[in-house]
Amino acid sequence: MKKQILHVVAASVIAVCTVLGAAQAAEKVKIGFLVKQPEEPWFQTEWRFADKAGKDNGFEVLKIAAPDGERTLAALDSLATNGAKGFVICTPDPRLGPSIVAKAKALGLVMVAVDDRFVGSDGKFMEEVPYLGMDAHAVGQMQGKLLMEEAKKRGWSLAETGAIVNTFEELDTAHQRTSGSVESLLASGLPKENVFSAANRTTDIPGSFDASNIVLTQHPEKKNWLVIGMNDNAVLGGIRATEGSGFKAPNVIGIGINGTDVVAELEKKEVTGLFGSLLLSPNVHGYKTAMMVYDWVSKGVVPAKFTPISDATLITRENFKQKLTEMGLMAEK
Ligand code: GLA
Repeated sequence: MKKQILHVVAASVIAVCTVLGAAQAAEKVKIGFLVKQPEEPWFQTEWRFADKAGKDNGFEVLKIAAPDGERTLAALDSLATNGAKGFVICTPDPRLGPSIVAKAKALGLVMVAVDDRFVGSDGKFMEEVPYLGMDAHAVGQMQGKLLMEEAKKRGWSLAETGAIVNTFEELDTAHQRTSGSVESLLASGLPKENVFSAANRTTDIPGSFDASNIVLTQHPEKKNWLVIGMNDNAVLGGIRATEGSGFKAPNVIGIGINGTDVVAELEKKEVTGLFGSLLLSPNVHGYKTAMMVYDWVSKGVVPAKFTPISDATLITRENFKQKLTEMGLMAEK
């Protein structure tokens, strides 16, 4: 009799657990995470850490590539259809802000912008949309300062040194970084007339390669080059261009921004003109924004309008493995 009762109890426990489990699975919160350039390690890392936030807290992250406006808006429809309640987004174009906000409102989705801030039809930031990003101007200033320190260490004559500044003025965070960087070059004594702007048509290696090539062709008189850009790819394209024009690594210094997208470059046997990169915190960007949306939709906690993330560490051939490993960013092989 006792045994029988135990069996019944055990069976009921299992049944209750199964029902609860099914209910939990059905209720699992879903959030979207849309990025403009899924091919960039930077964004893959944000995704990885958003997933980690989901695993740690029991929600699901739907990772979606959003390389243009059409696909971004279509993604919002599919998020709503799939039962998502909100999303994190690095928009392919900040000027899409008003359409994204309107569509999200219509679908009942909340959102947090990461990396690239929405711009309204009046040209001003849409401050009502919670945003997490870095202090782009300060990071840019650091890039310029470190480039000049390295040039001085190498004993370069500044008169014979040019700076290629890969710009992408359409994007505020890019403008903040490159203008900050130029400020530091000038403050450290690089003559103004040695600073050359290279407007990038696209934010990838071919975009900065093409623009940098034009500068190099126009200024064959320079012996040494500093390469500036808003992120790792913007600098890498410039480095490839200097190589194409016959410059050797000792005469080129580039320092990227992101840190995630230079691993293959720093692992190369041959030293290249890429001296290093300013490693930011894609882990924090990914984890924290996912949590902001999750807490919003599941607990009603409305995120702050602006969450600044300001860490940046110089990584070079000497320390990149250690630094990336410390932050859990070194991909396992
Ligand atoms: C922009 C760039 C990325 C990365 C982030 C950092 O989105 O395109 O490569 O630098 O900013 O916030």
